[in-house]
Amino acid sequence: MLTVAVLISGTGSNLRALLDAAADPEFPARIVVVGADREADGFAHAEEYGIPTFMVPFAQFASREEWGAELATQLDVWRPDLVVLSGLMRLLPADLVDAWSPRIINTHPAYLPEFPGAHGVRDALAAGVAQTGASVIIVDNGVDSGPILAQERVPVLPGDDEHALHERIKPVERRLLIDVVRRVATGDLDLAAVSASAQL
Ligand code: GRF
Repeated sequence: MLTVAVLISGTGSNLRALLDAAADPEFPARIVVVGADREADGFAHAEEYGIPTFMVPFAQFASREEWGAELATQLDVWRPDLVVLSGLMRLLPADLVDAWSPRIINTHPAYLPEFPGAHGVRDALAAGVAQTGASVIIVDNGVDSGPILAQERVPVLPGDDEHALHERIKPVERRLLIDVVRRVATGDLDLAAVSASAQL
């Protein structure tokens, strides 16, 4: 059984979908802890499932590195097989990424390498593209630049605003994330091999 830590900042709708999937006894992964950089609404989903939570408030640390060191300490308590960034709106310091990559993955609401960064949905709208998408990647030390594990196109429709488009993308993100976690857990997807081949 693959053990998973999920890190969030917000509402945690992707977390919720993963929790619901993992509640199926047939699902080959279990969420062991949920962490956040703030008092995230998504904690409620973890609490509903009786899953422990921790918070490392970014604002209370003098630097990103010190915040990351505390996050690393918390993750070491749980020693998950995989860390999932599910709407964590912070860049992780290099030490933490180096310690966990390739066993750390992220979801992104765009078809990477198109529209990386914190405003992937807004940027796609501003660019006037006919389609954008959703991606799941291995986290590396760039901004949404790690090896792509899964992605799918999502159309931009007339009249879309950022919220409407994001709400159309999120179900696709959820499906891709659940599928990637399942494939990592079953061994169908070898993160180390994907990472190694990306570095060739
Ligand atoms: C997702 O689109 C994620 O990719 C982005 O923020 C959203 C998180 O939403 N970084 P939620 O907190 O899972 O509802």
